[in-house]
Amino acid sequence: MEASNGPRRPIGIGMISLGWMGRLHSQCYKRVNYHFPQLALQPRLVIAADTASERVEFAKDDLGYAEVTADWREVLSHPGVDAVSITAPNYLHHEMAVAAAESGKHFWVEKPVGRNSLETAEILEAAGKAGVITAVGFNYRHAPAVQRAYELVRSGTIGRVVHARGMFLNDHAADPRGALSWRFQRELSGYGVTGDLLSHVVDLLQYIIGDIAEVNSLMATTIAERPVVPMGVGDHFAVIEGGELGPVDNEDYVGALVRFGGGAVGMCEASRVTVGPRCQIGFDIFCTDGAVSWDFERMNELQVCIGRSDQDHGYRTVLAGPGMGAYAHFQPGPAISMSYDDLKVIEAMLFLRSIAEGSQHGASVADALATAEVLSALGRSAESGTWEVVRRG
Ligand SMILES: NC(=O)c1ccc[n+]([C@@H]2O[C@H](COP(=O)([O-])OP(=O)(O)OC[C@H]3O[C@@H](n4cnc5c(N)ncnc54)[C@H](O)[C@@H]3O)[C@@H](O)[C@H]2O)c1
Repeated sequence: MEASNGPRRPIGIGMISLGWMGRLHSQCYKRVNYHFPQLALQPRLVIAADTASERVEFAKDDLGYAEVTADWREVLSHPGVDAVSITAPNYLHHEMAVAAAESGKHFWVEKPVGRNSLETAEILEAAGKAGVITAVGFNYRHAPAVQRAYELVRSGTIGRVVHARGMFLNDHAADPRGALSWRFQRELSGYGVTGDLLSHVVDLLQYIIGDIAEVNSLMATTIAERPVVPMGVGDHFAVIEGGELGPVDNEDYVGALVRFGGGAVGMCEASRVTVGPRCQIGFDIFCTDGAVSWDFERMNELQVCIGRSDQDHGYRTVLAGPGMGAYAHFQPGPAISMSYDDLKVIEAMLFLRSIAEGSQHGASVADALATAEVLSALGRSAESGTWEVVRRG
């Protein structure tokens, strides 16, 4: 990163929504200069919005926002705001992100961005027209072990990719008493686990290997009804005893065979109802001269196999350390574990660095569209029962 010349310039931050991600984005803006002192910008928490009153109170009293509001449009019209985070439920992203672009505000929006590829394409168009910087919450890219896997594959050190698999097996909705949050309603969320979890997997596979060209998928809903919960109460891990039940109208499971444009083949799957793995996002990438394997449940480890001529070749466990990705900004020596939240601090740095330098670092809405186009093909394939080509641009 370029060293900052002289004192840092302040940048006014607006926060739209204060759920899990809104609170975490806020913490990241507060931590980013500590971990990345050379950043040319210094975030100031100007104004935060949420429709849940206790969350705005928390934003003022504990997160340190100077102002709070129930109306997200006040965040965009505030003269002290230069950049915003959009961490609302998915159905609001399109309206909020287009409005942010039209107000000339740079924005960091959570995945999957739009509920579908059309919404995501319109957000990309609005950002392009306004000339604002964008960032997207594909945080798993930033794990130091993932960065090392990226280098090993992209440099050709382990040869050409032959086949790969990616997965996100999660248990947050395995309990039928798990609350019917916005995530389980197509109108509010778009896809179910496909947008929520598989989007991360598709992004990782395309980031490391290259574009997916064709898919053949199936989707399934295994828990058809869940207890109703009001917006802004609890989170998607909430479990509710008794009460009224409402229908789940998007999928709990998605699985697919995939063909990459570069010739490799593979598969990917995601579930929010798995019992066993708890938060197992990861990949196995098999190449002509080696392989890499990563599992977020052991985020700071990478399984690496380099070469195939040795009688005893096979995976060895490589621990994350200062030579990998942004690790050295968090810990001084190897094998001192980093956390999920640290990955979001790296994302905040990339967003602010992009603004400071006027050029893109890290995942943007263009990357979100590249993922959304694959998700659309998965949706079409689950309906048609056949292979579907990923439509680009
Ligand atoms: N990158 C990741 O790893 C990751 C993890 C979790 C969630 N996400 C994404 O982040 C986004 C938010 O997820 P979450 O888990 O934080 O959700 P959440 O349910 O915890 O929070 C959503 C918040 O939005 C607020 N809200 C609803 N309507 C609003 C409105 N009109 N104006 C302002 N605020 C409003 C709610 O009151 C709530 O506080 C989603 O797009 C989700 O896909 C990403």
